[in-house]
Amino acid sequence: MEIIFLISSPPSDVYPAVRHYFFLNFLLINNLIKMMSKVIIKNSAQIEKMRIAGKIAAEVIEMIAPYVKAGVTTQELDDIMLKFIEEDRHAISACLGYHGYPKCTCISVNEVVCHGIPGNHKLHNGDIVNIDVTVIKDGMHGDTSKMFIVGQTSPRNHQLVKVTQEALYAAIRAMGPNRNLVEAGRVIQQIANANNFSVVRDYCGHGIGEGFHEEPQVVHYYPNPYSLILKPGMTFTIEPMLNAGTWKVKINHKDGWTVTTADKQPSAQFEHTILITETGCEVLTLRAEEEETLGRYITCK
Ligand code: MF3
Ligand code: CO
Ligand code: CO
Repeated sequence: MEIIFLISSPPSDVYPAVRHYFFLNFLLINNLIKMMSKVIIKNSAQIEKMRIAGKIAAEVIEMIAPYVKAGVTTQELDDIMLKFIEEDRHAISACLGYHGYPKCTCISVNEVVCHGIPGNHKLHNGDIVNIDVTVIKDGMHGDTSKMFIVGQTSPRNHQLVKVTQEALYAAIRAMGPNRNLVEAGRVIQQIANANNFSVVRDYCGHGIGEGFHEEPQVVHYYPNPYSLILKPGMTFTIEPMLNAGTWKVKINHKDGWTVTTADKQPSAQFEHTILITETGCEVLTLRAEEEETLGRYITCK
């Protein structure tokens, strides 16, 4: 009823400001309807496959952990992960060849925000490193990323990594049926602000399933207008990127992929793929080390 009222045209005798208000509402509500109608609700067979894809993506991160040491090149790490995905898990890297992306994973070091391309670059003591893995198994995607600290790093870097993980966990705990997706951004922005970090605005989380990047967009900042009432069977990622300095980013025009902070200060990111359940959500890409701290089945309070 409310929607019908808002999208019907305003009476012609209303003040211009009111007409403008009607028009803005029309745009907003129209966008919401478009977005909601494109969000795919997964059935139980699809969900079962997503559990498997999510588990494999998590296992890749667990498997690579002992190799993330000073002196290793990001190419060597990528090679090990590709072999594991293809030969051990008989899965596919979703990134390799995605819009021409040349490698199996994204490895983003220090001021690299996301989409770092593995190469000859060696890791050094003090680096903070994001490894982002997306696999396809049986037609379904699983997408997750984690920060690694190489050796000893600064207290500020430690805090950036810790706070980014806390922000992801807090956002996950806020997700459940009949909750609004904007809550994710609200919770993340609040935690970032409290710690004097900024939230990247140009890249967001996404619906996921048969598609790598489906509707909805999951924005990590607040306020934002991307309202969506969550329903059981929705699957999407939350993947906040927090920066030590400005939220502004730059894309490397030579390779077309690497995103860095505009001020070259460090950036951190964590990502999980989640499923909205009847009572809250399920973390499809949970690692064993997170069973105590986060847990797979989250009851939304
Ligand atoms: N895994 C990234 C995400 O979280 C996307 C990487 S796309 C690539 O959405 F092409 F850069 F690999
Ligand atoms: Co993602
Ligand atoms: Co990812």
